[in-house]
Amino acid sequence: MTDTSRSKIEEKELEFFEKYYDGTPCNKLGDKLRLERMITSLKHLSKENNFNNVLSIGCGDGEFEILFSKHTNHIHGLDLSPKAIENANKKVEEKGITNASFEAKSFFDLNLNEKYDLITCIAFLHHVPEKELESFIKTAYDHLNPGGVFFSQDPNINGILRSVGRVLIKEKYGELHSPDERELVPNELADTCKKIGFSEVKLHYLDFFLIPSIYLFPYKFTFMMPVFQFIDSVLSFSPIAHLSSGFSLLARKKAGGEVT
Ligand SMILES: C[S@@+](CC[C@H](N)C(=O)[O-])C[C@H]1O[C@@H](n2cnc3c(N)ncnc32)[C@H](O)[C@@H]1O
Repeated sequence: MTDTSRSKIEEKELEFFEKYYDGTPCNKLGDKLRLERMITSLKHLSKENNFNNVLSIGCGDGEFEILFSKHTNHIHGLDLSPKAIENANKKVEEKGITNASFEAKSFFDLNLNEKYDLITCIAFLHHVPEKELESFIKTAYDHLNPGGVFFSQDPNINGILRSVGRVLIKEKYGELHSPDERELVPNELADTCKKIGFSEVKLHYLDFFLIPSIYLFPYKFTFMMPVFQFIDSVLSFSPIAHLSSGFSLLARKKAGGEVT
């Protein structure tokens, strides 16, 4: 990617997210449930893995990292948006959390000099330009300890509600999405991870209603958020799971000495 196309993408992302983190309304309970759902999947894993050192790329305003700080020795978050990082730093200071740190940095400038047990990209990979995605995941792979886990959550290109939403709430849909983001193809992402060398790759279709409703009903129907979460949990194990709005990916690096 040329420096000009890189800086154009970053400029547009930055412009979108500086405004977004300046107070885009979202349903607070719904957002907490969205993040707790991911913490639950990771917590199950942390029984067999010690996630001592965690990196979160595209961390936004630190909500996930603050929740996850209870399950690790240290979590470090990176995000392009200085406004998001300012919000995240304010929150950890107010809550007295000392094992979560944040840094305003673009993933293009990643220069990692340590290894992690877990690298998370929550709602972030779909902001990485298509051409850069494989090398980005390879960088993550190279910076995982043996047995380390890469975990992401992104919108699903096959999401049925997304197709409906794009037609029904055209303008609002555009307002809530940055110009260069896109939905991802779950199986393609899984294949990329396998190609890079991850020994175990799992997809989980996890969201139908909860994430869209967080933005559609920022101040209304809060009582429905746990209901949406419940419906999602049922649908995610149904025959139409692959038509979900969002999916997560878990990829594990081979542990030292393990034969695949
Ligand atoms: C949809 S938000 C997700 C934020 C957070 N992880 C969450 O789940 O609430 C995507 C994030 O990616 C960040 N981002 C976009 N381009 C980036 C880049 N080049 N480097 C680092 N972060 C970037 C944005 O600033 C934004 O905070």
